[in-house]
Amino acid sequence: MLKLDQRIAEARQKFKKTGHTHHLVHERNMRVNFGQRVAPPQSQYEKIKPGDVPNPFPGLKNDIPEMEYKDLTSDILTGAIIHHGALIVRNFFGNGIVENFRKGIDETFYESSKHFALDLQDKPTEPIDERSPWFRRQLPGEKLFDPGSVGFMLMTGSVWTFLSPAVCHDLLKSFEDVNLRGLLDEYFDDRTCLSFNKSVLRRMDPLGHPADWHQDGAFMDEHIKSINLWVALSDCGAGTDCPGMDFVPKRLNKIMPTGINKAKYDWSVSHESVSEWFKDCPPVTPTYKAGDAIFFDHYNLHVTSYSPEYTKRRYALETWFFAQKHAASNQSPMYW
Ligand SMILES: [Fe+2]
Repeated sequence: MLKLDQRIAEARQKFKKTGHTHHLVHERNMRVNFGQRVAPPQSQYEKIKPGDVPNPFPGLKNDIPEMEYKDLTSDILTGAIIHHGALIVRNFFGNGIVENFRKGIDETFYESSKHFALDLQDKPTEPIDERSPWFRRQLPGEKLFDPGSVGFMLMTGSVWTFLSPAVCHDLLKSFEDVNLRGLLDEYFDDRTCLSFNKSVLRRMDPLGHPADWHQDGAFMDEHIKSINLWVALSDCGAGTDCPGMDFVPKRLNKIMPTGINKAKYDWSVSHESVSEWFKDCPPVTPTYKAGDAIFFDHYNLHVTSYSPEYTKRRYALETWFFAQKHAASNQSPMYW
């Protein structure tokens, strides 16, 4: 491990010194390569039960707890997830960092859309920049994705973070600067790794119609330990003109039945099912300022919000983390 960490640190150091793009690509490629050595979960694990950990928000019922990120500890995160299913953290990133990522996402979308003959609103007319730090889809090792899926994702407002060496570098650096790495290593009691499939830069226009609900665990391997961090880069959610997400504000510790009750997909949960199952605990739609974030894991039931009131494009960063010994192989673990 130390040797791998040292090689990544050297690439970062060289980039800092020279500013040359190929060091960013090298760093990204090492994370991809080393990530492919992460073994599938070797064993089941004893799930934490509500009686095992204190509830850090004992007065709160049928809602998602929230707090300032600076006050968060791994014990509070564990308690919030086990008792409430999610945790909102305010001021995860400051304004300057938010602005930097919004620009990085624009650059990445701009460069990546040159690679596809798509009918996009702001389709670039310039030629592909083969040396761009913003989009490099050539990855080392085994094939992780079908190239056509990148074009499809672009049309729905997302790009895989690891296809942008510059944003990927900045994001991991920013996570480390706010000690997210230390917090998650403690949360998992293991080394934290990332996921290629589930690390996504989002620049999404409001939905034209309601989407189905889902638990991300419905399409992940079993025996995993996960946590997702979704960072809003726009003011969004209830009471704004920009869509956030709706959540069932309750800890679920299993994957609910999918594909029934008029669900659109075999992995999704219909609005009918949610209304029927959670009569006493109706969905909530939090409001975020740009820079706020929410943590939840693969059992959380959620959906992108839909309303004709939402008219504005939303920027966000979604990053799923796994404990290295309990990572979902089918989500392509990446080394951190
Ligand atoms: Fe999801």
